[in-house]
Amino acid sequence: MQEEVILAELWRDYTSSTPQALRIRELLAARGETIQNDHVALRTYALPGIDMRVLAQPFEAAGWTLAADVYPFPDKHLVARYWRPPSAELPKVFISELDVEALSPAARVIVHALHAQVGEFVVLPWAGRPWRIAYADYEALLAESEYAAWVAAFGFRVNHFTVLVNALSTFVDLQGLVAFLQQMGETLSTAGGVIKGSPFDLLEQASTRADSVEVSFADTSARIPSCYYEFARRYPMEDGSLFQGFVPASADRIFESTNVDKTLEPRGGGE
Ligand code: NI
Repeated sequence: MQEEVILAELWRDYTSSTPQALRIRELLAARGETIQNDHVALRTYALPGIDMRVLAQPFEAAGWTLAADVYPFPDKHLVARYWRPPSAELPKVFISELDVEALSPAARVIVHALHAQVGEFVVLPWAGRPWRIAYADYEALLAESEYAAWVAAFGFRVNHFTVLVNALSTFVDLQGLVAFLQQMGETLSTAGGVIKGSPFDLLEQASTRADSVEVSFADTSARIPSCYYEFARRYPMEDGSLFQGFVPASADRIFESTNVDKTLEPRGGGE
């Protein structure tokens, strides 16, 4: 499959549950900007048939190659890796996976029951959710791992696209873009500060808070956080080329952009 087709499918699926991404793209287009994506990010469980290597297969077939770096997030029981694109204007693919065996026995039972429903399912990165899940099981996972609950609710879907700030022409830095988005009424994630990382890290990142969307469960439906939009500014390394890796301390907090906002009213609607 051609890389443009893959990216178009990912964008279509992502924006169907992330209206803010379309809105922000329009805001930037109105300034004359053409967006170049730094990376797209996907999430999964480290289980046979659906792990990160399986999820990466369509990208590898289209020319993306696995980078050597491995990023562990021990507190969240996650590991992430990234794939380099076949050409520089295409995004990197960042995939994380959850070590399900590190969860509590009760949570493991829930995730294994989802996994058992996968069957002959072809794992495409925009395939959606190949299992049914009861709302109580989602909540039980949520109490232990926001990440486990997100994958249970959404399945296979881009978690975020990321605008490469360096490729924008009307913003000199990430601070300027952040100020513009806030002025336009967008809500940014504040976990770890609005801007994660520094020029010293060679990467600065910010992200919106995830949109909430209505999701159908086996027994009810509920509004829960879906996907967010990220913004990354990269700095040159000593050889002059832009740093292409990731900064674990920043990514660790970026994961929290899909956290359920516990300061909001209890989620209503049939629960
Ligand atoms: Ni990201």
